[in-house]
Amino acid sequence: MSIHHDTIVILDFGSQYTQLIARRIRELKVHSVILPASTTLKSIRECSPKGIILSGGPASVTSIGRPRWAKEVLQEEVPILGICYGMQLIAHYMGGRVGEAKHREFGRSELTVLDSSDLFKGLEKTGPFSVWMSHGDRIEKLPQGFKAIARTGNSPIAAMKSANHRHQFYCLQFHPEVAHTSHGKQILNNFVHGICGAKATWTMGSFLHNSINEIQGQIGREKVICALSGGVDSMVAAAMTHRAIGKQLTCVFIDNGVMRKDEAKQLKKVFASQHFHYRMVDASPHFLKALGKTSDPEKKRKIIGRQFIQAFDREAKTIGKVKYLVQGTLYPDVIESISHKGPSATIKTHHNVGGLPAKMKLKLIEPLRELFKDEVRELGKELGLPVDMVQRHPFPGPGLAIRVLGSVSPERLAILREADSIFIDELKSQGFYRKTWQAFAVLLPIRTVGVMGDQRTYEHVIGLRAVTSVDGMTADWAQLPHDFLGKVSNRIINEVKGVNRVVYDISSKPPSTIEWE
Ligand code: XMP
Repeated sequence: MSIHHDTIVILDFGSQYTQLIARRIRELKVHSVILPASTTLKSIRECSPKGIILSGGPASVTSIGRPRWAKEVLQEEVPILGICYGMQLIAHYMGGRVGEAKHREFGRSELTVLDSSDLFKGLEKTGPFSVWMSHGDRIEKLPQGFKAIARTGNSPIAAMKSANHRHQFYCLQFHPEVAHTSHGKQILNNFVHGICGAKATWTMGSFLHNSINEIQGQIGREKVICALSGGVDSMVAAAMTHRAIGKQLTCVFIDNGVMRKDEAKQLKKVFASQHFHYRMVDASPHFLKALGKTSDPEKKRKIIGRQFIQAFDREAKTIGKVKYLVQGTLYPDVIESISHKGPSATIKTHHNVGGLPAKMKLKLIEPLRELFKDEVRELGKELGLPVDMVQRHPFPGPGLAIRVLGSVSPERLAILREADSIFIDELKSQGFYRKTWQAFAVLLPIRTVGVMGDQRTYEHVIGLRAVTSVDGMTADWAQLPHDFLGKVSNRIINEVKGVNRVVYDISSKPPSTIEWE
């Protein structure tokens, strides 16, 4: 993709904000890639970067155990921006002095700009503004040829630059990429567009255009298969591939019996409206039989994964000779797998189609592997998918099987479906759906006592879960208004037979998880 777009390379030294830097730059319509700090200069050059950013990171330049990196990068004749640890690296290697700060700075600081000619352009009249700091070291002596361009109370050198005509270094002690830094976007804009001169061509329209050509070139006349899960990623990946190769693509949707209320019906409508060449397979009896009385969450996941592969395999055999499988892998998964930390424990092990390529000897097509989730949603709109579809919350592969806590039965699934549908309806109609990252109901494996119409009841409990999050890795419980929760609870207890109590989950992740199982 970099052949068609100006690119900013971000070298990742392990900051928790690295992905955010990439996203902010893409919001400026400039293509950005994250490479591990250890990437060789040759590989960095292959991206033909218009600028390079050295990210923050947990290490200290003054101690051993720093990540390995190609320090010859500092000789490249493209503008380099160091953020936090990246700034200290530049200071260290260019002959400055980095020391442990007397007062570590974490959180908000007030920044005073001293030079607004380039990196802080447009901010000359703002007066001191808030920036987000997270550092224990600070620059004590400027490298030769550098000058301080901003300061805070605790850091006389909170930003610095050296802009001789061949080598241009810009450094920030704070994080311009986080929302808590005022004017962070302006600062990155000044670097990317003003200093690097990168052109704003990274739009989903141009991405789509290029990718379609690539997919056509790669696939030729071969047959392609795609497993649709009902989620945004697989849907957008399929729509894009369909746009490229039409009927050479067959989409398979396996109804596993643990979908939400009316989900299969709604999806069928979307597939038809997109003119997908698709097959819908009702494999729910197989899934439910295999689940039996299993109550252990991990065992349930494995059973569903296995059943899925079997059902998909059965269907694929009827399609004829297929060479490729389309998968909706996203950029964060790609980054995780190449991160300098090594494949991390956070990688999702639950890609439903994980076992397929090996079993069926298929080659993978991953048209979204360069995109973040918000870009996938934008691309979905570009492709004409219904807004409701592209704004859907994530839904786990094992579906309601891990939301009916304990063993799964058609009766328990029916109760959960009704309760969940009421919750989601209310979230949508009162404007909270888009404000939450994920929201759903769970059916607890206990009964509690209640009283209805003078009668003692002993019935099911529904748990409601709604979270805010950026990527599902960390999450906070959504502070939904009490009257809203009251209304949902009332509706569920009145309308769903067998439920006499509703509880709201107020745990964050960590230490809890988003799902209950
Ligand atoms: P947790 O519960 O781990 O969930 O905080 C994080 C995100 O992952 C989803 N999730 C799954 N997705 N198969 C999936 O496809 C699974 O087994 C699975 N478990 C959790 C969860 O819905 C949330 O979005």
